[in-house]
Amino acid sequence: SNLTQDDLKKLAAYKAVEYVKSGMVVGLGTGSTAKHAVSRISELLREGKLRDVIGIPTSTTTHAQAVSLGIPLSDLDSHPVVDLSIDGADEVDPSLNLVKGRGGSLLREKMVEGASKKFVVIVDESKLVKHLGGSGLAVPVEVVPFCCDFTRGKLEELFKEAGCTAKLRVTSGGETAPPAVTDNGNYVVDLYLERDMGDLEAASEKILRLPGVVEHGMFLGIATTLIVAGKAGMTVRDR
Ligand code: A5P
Repeated sequence: SNLTQDDLKKLAAYKAVEYVKSGMVVGLGTGSTAKHAVSRISELLREGKLRDVIGIPTSTTTHAQAVSLGIPLSDLDSHPVVDLSIDGADEVDPSLNLVKGRGGSLLREKMVEGASKKFVVIVDESKLVKHLGGSGLAVPVEVVPFCCDFTRGKLEELFKEAGCTAKLRVTSGGETAPPAVTDNGNYVVDLYLERDMGDLEAASEKILRLPGVVEHGMFLGIATTLIVAGKAGMTVRDR
């Protein structure tokens, strides 16, 4: 077929929006895949096929998109229980564990999606991996700006065995460019691993125990449903 990667993202997103029912509080994900879900929700609201949906955005970018489309919004302070969240991912393993945050929105995503009764992950087939962090791409960690190089060094040390190189994420323009700043005013350290990091829960605990770390982009046991769009069709899987 002649489907582009963006067509596949859109197919997965539209399928996920079938889970949205009138009256639901819905977590709105961030990124090029989730964007299609947000615009689909607004379309169904406009057509009257959905009513009384409240969106909880996971980034300032998604907040702006949802506002521009007229989706009523709230936050976790007012709605601590979210019925359903829909979001993309950078990597998905066979147990539906995820790496997220290459777009920098991991903290708000984890807060909202972790508070959701159902979390539907939408990806094209390029995101499927055997081991998280094994694709040569980064596992992102949000850190406070204070002495971020100290924290970067500690993170690198933690995964020495896995051949880890930890890099402070910078805005585009090369290594001397200023650090990339998250929606929460923090920085991101990207962990590049030569080998997989073994027990993911243990790795998660180790990262979170470091002072200076705010959150990491491994989403373990949070996703409840995975929708994968591929050239050969679409698959839906529950955990
Ligand atoms: C944002 O920080 C990320 O967690 C995104 O959800 C993730 O990067 C997926 O984005 P795409 O759908 O654009 O690949």
